[in-house]
Amino acid sequence: MEKTPMIEVRHVTKEYPVTDEKVVALDDINLTINKGEICCIFGPSGSGKSTLLNQLAGLEKPTRGGIRMNGTVISSLNESELAKFRQKNLGFIFQAYNLLPSMTALENTAMPLMFQGINKKTRNKAASYMLKQVGLANRMGHYPNQMSGGQQQRVGIARAFVAKPAIILADEPTGNLDSKSSKEVMDMIQDFAHRYHQTIVLVSHSPDAAKYADHIVHLFDGRIVKEEFRTPEGLLASSYLQKIPSEQKPDLISEQTPNSENSQDQNSQSEDVRSKAVHSELRPDPAGNPPQPNS
Ligand SMILES: Nc1ncnc2c1ncn2[C@@H]1O[C@H](COP(=O)(O)OP(=O)(O)O)[C@@H](O)[C@H]1O
Ligand SMILES: [Mg+2]
Repeated sequence: MEKTPMIEVRHVTKEYPVTDEKVVALDDINLTINKGEICCIFGPSGSGKSTLLNQLAGLEKPTRGGIRMNGTVISSLNESELAKFRQKNLGFIFQAYNLLPSMTALENTAMPLMFQGINKKTRNKAASYMLKQVGLANRMGHYPNQMSGGQQQRVGIARAFVAKPAIILADEPTGNLDSKSSKEVMDMIQDFAHRYHQTIVLVSHSPDAAKYADHIVHLFDGRIVKEEFRTPEGLLASSYLQKIPSEQKPDLISEQTPNSENSQDQNSQSEDVRSKAVHSELRPDPAGNPPQPNS
């Protein structure tokens, strides 16, 4: 498969002021997600997963750093440009489904097309096609409160994919579902994404969801501690463990992959070289100086 970068995150730091202190929710994140990839942002509660997804959605601005999505540097867009960017490029799947209670499954699914100014007949045709695809042909006129959680999330999936956005962002999409519904939902997301060559960023703390990913980004304390890539030979890992003190190493990354032992230094070195080459365009400081604290 061709490797075209779809999402590029460069030196992104996100700090939240809390009374006199600041919480560093993301600490110098560098990440490239390629077109057609299912990327799972994986980590324990509080590791910064949702904060990272919010930066990608343009719902919050990074304190420092830059993000390019589908060719647009979103970190420098204003609110109305961001709204247009989201409509054109992004689909969302939420843990709590976020369907509008006063609208039917069909109307909820057609929503993103309405924002794009597509006429009602075309909208309904596309929405009903998507609902059939997710197995809800006989639930089109149902309201959210007349459907199970699994069915509501399938409407959520139909809505996210109906406009065929380049990128779909999903925050714990199976977080409220039992294991059978979770599997159905993940199978559907994977199937659609591969069929339409879309890029998925999936936030989860569940190893079951991570199994669907081509690329797993392990977050801990706002930092990337490991990245894994699925290849025909199995999962290949790049380890960034050397960047965190050993007493802070989380359990979930304690197991070593066969090839990570002697390649750690090489990995970090080549990443540094790549950083200098391709990260320069998105660097917050044109002089290339390290970010200043409290700027
Ligand atoms: N609006 C906010 N104000 C202050 N702290 C926040 C805010 N949002 C998130 N945080 C903090 O940032 C860290 C990462 O949070 P979050 O991204 O929600 O983690 P996750 O989604 O992995 O559970 C946590 O320590 C959290 O308390
Ligand atoms: Mg979260």
